[in-house]
Amino acid sequence: MDPMHAWLAAAAAERTHTGLIRSTDIHRNPRFRAGSLDLASNDYLGLSSDPRLRAAAIVAVERYGAGAGASRVVTGTTECHAELETQLARLTGQPACLVFSSGYAANIGLLTALGDPDTLLVSDAHAHASLIDGARLSRSPVAICPHADLVALERLLRERAQPRAVVVVESLYSVLGDATDLRRTAALCARHDALLVVDEAHGIGVAGDGRGAVHAAGLAGAPHVTMTATLSKALGAQGGAVLGPPLLREHLVNTARTFIFDTALAPAAAAAAAAACRLIAAEPARVADLHRIAAVIAEAAGVPRAPGAVQSIPATSAAQAAAATARLGDDGIVVGCFRPPSVPDGISRLRLVARAGIDPERAAHAARLAARRARAEGPA
Ligand SMILES: Cc1ncc(COP(=O)(O)O)c(C=O)c1O
Repeated sequence: MDPMHAWLAAAAAERTHTGLIRSTDIHRNPRFRAGSLDLASNDYLGLSSDPRLRAAAIVAVERYGAGAGASRVVTGTTECHAELETQLARLTGQPACLVFSSGYAANIGLLTALGDPDTLLVSDAHAHASLIDGARLSRSPVAICPHADLVALERLLRERAQPRAVVVVESLYSVLGDATDLRRTAALCARHDALLVVDEAHGIGVAGDGRGAVHAAGLAGAPHVTMTATLSKALGAQGGAVLGPPLLREHLVNTARTFIFDTALAPAAAAAAAAACRLIAAEPARVADLHRIAAVIAEAAGVPRAPGAVQSIPATSAAQAAAATARLGDDGIVVGCFRPPSVPDGISRLRLVARAGIDPERAAHAARLAARRARAEGPA
């Protein structure tokens, strides 16, 4: 075996040994299994299959074709992209918006465009991989702040040597489901002349009346607060965005490599996401229903209610989490299984995601079963 294949085989053997194998198995997808209950996907408002999103995507495909064909700065910008940026800015109360081909690309594009050796980048210890990668690529000195520790954050900002600073948090964290205290964090940033970047991947369509946590905290449009979003969770489509001042948008168009050197978001995804923005603004009852289901899940599972859609049930071990997930799957209940190294606190867990439109009794039954199996000491 050549050295590269030998190395790949050794890495695969190690994964098998530790039981930490990821899979793209199509049969795990609840969309292909009639009657199963999906508590794993991030389609928080159930919009990905909404007829109005589908219709908007079809109109865009018929008008512009299946792909954008080029970067936004070449010929990739269509009316769908412009309309999406208008709708996203309107929904979140932000002055300007720039759409990327994914939330991952938006985070990397923003942090690399803001970073340089004179800018300290302070990232929360639980930040998503896309923020970690953006920080690594940014050419900035990077400090990792203990999770949600405002005292440590204050010290890092006060003692920095760099003239500029960027603080990176998520509004709602994706694995544990906890929220950042945005008002206090933003006030701290303002006191220390730092820009606060809030990743609203799990906040948009969920926090407040669906306009996101930045808006709910009264920070939309604040010059020292910028947000990023994904269009692939509550918005039911695909893509990502950065929202903030027009000057920042202009800077990104000219410097963000994941914007300039990336083919534009497919017009169908842009049109579907724009339709989702209109729906969220017009139908806040969906968001209220999502929160009702989240409360039902937390209560039935016997865990504290996390503020967003994600409710997290600690398991007795990584093996127990995996076995419980598999057995729930056999029973038609699809949940997320998170084990080290994908859990920031090292505790393996089942991740149950509330979604608008789920039958509350079914959700409660599934959550009770999941909690019993996650906590069992023996076979799940
Ligand atoms: C917090 C957070 N940021 C960014 C992303 C990336 O978004 P996307 O899936 O649109 O690339 C995700 C999830 O996938 C996420 O959970």
